[in-house]
Amino acid sequence: MKALQTIGLTKRYGPLVALDTVSLQVEEGEIFGLLGPNGAGKSTLVGILTGLVLPSAGQARILGRPHDDPAARREVGYVPELFRSAPWLTAAETLRFHAAFLRRPLTPADADALLDRVGLGHVGRRRVAGFSKGMEQRLAWAAALVGEPRLLLLDEPTSALDPSGRHEMAGLMRELRDRGVTIFLNSHLLRDLEGLCDSVALIRQGRLGDTGPVPVVLEGAGPRFRIDVGPMSDAIYEELRARGIACTATDEGAVLEVPVSRSELPAVHRELVRLGLAVYEVVPVRRTLEEWFLEEIETP
Ligand SMILES: Nc1ncnc2c1ncn2[C@@H]1O[C@H](COP(=O)(O)OP(=O)(O)O)[C@@H](O)[C@H]1O
Ligand SMILES: [Mg+2]
Repeated sequence: MKALQTIGLTKRYGPLVALDTVSLQVEEGEIFGLLGPNGAGKSTLVGILTGLVLPSAGQARILGRPHDDPAARREVGYVPELFRSAPWLTAAETLRFHAAFLRRPLTPADADALLDRVGLGHVGRRRVAGFSKGMEQRLAWAAALVGEPRLLLLDEPTSALDPSGRHEMAGLMRELRDRGVTIFLNSHLLRDLEGLCDSVALIRQGRLGDTGPVPVVLEGAGPRFRIDVGPMSDAIYEELRARGIACTATDEGAVLEVPVSRSELPAVHRELVRLGLAVYEVVPVRRTLEEWFLEEIETP
């Protein structure tokens, strides 16, 4: 069973196609990042999953059920792009209010524990009216966790947080994942997602682009290694080029880019030694999420 699945999901606003036949799958217990520029359709997709936006066509399934099935809804926690709550309530009262919607008891101790987890333990008795944007976003996280969801939908969930707040929330996401919670998040903050997401998908102008597990996506056209070698003759240079190995001269020798997998690497190493080259360093070539994003966005 998939935690989340969309099949040909489409949303039109008059002539504008905000989502164009989007089909994606999220495995249970993973952190899945949907990345895309502003206006790409990220919030529209999450909106449909939460039931706040009606799709024009297609389907979505949550934990094996239609997304609008009340039993599926109960498993979902949602952090909206802009969280607004009644300013006259305190943080703890806000959580009790959310718990009441879920018809779920929430003791003051439960509320305090939740507020603690999002770094608001010290302001639980303060009214939300005086909260900063970052504090409101933390409260949104706590509210999303009230129902102990199995799937968390997060729409730009760290946009209002400072770097240490983002770091804390990344820690919280890992902790939730380790307890089996699936996390689906939208973001354009690529640095925050590096090292956090298990899988990513790119969306632009409503269309889903490259998608897959992060290590695969970052390998790009295939695994490659950069090999730092000593000086070589022109004949060897030509021979390597003929084999499809890119060579760049350096002050001390050359750097080779070899399109092979890890298991083929020892044979390549032996061959280089046979050609009389000194091998100083071998490093895998991987794109960063940001490089991947920019390369994909620039591809027409
Ligand atoms: N309620 C709406 N009415 C008309 N157009 C909308 C509405 N909501 C979103 N859109 C349009 O749909 C597109 C996708 O928006 P959105 O999903 O908010 O993008 P993202 O979250 O990726 O920034 C944008 O062009 C946006 O202007
Ligand atoms: Mg958005």
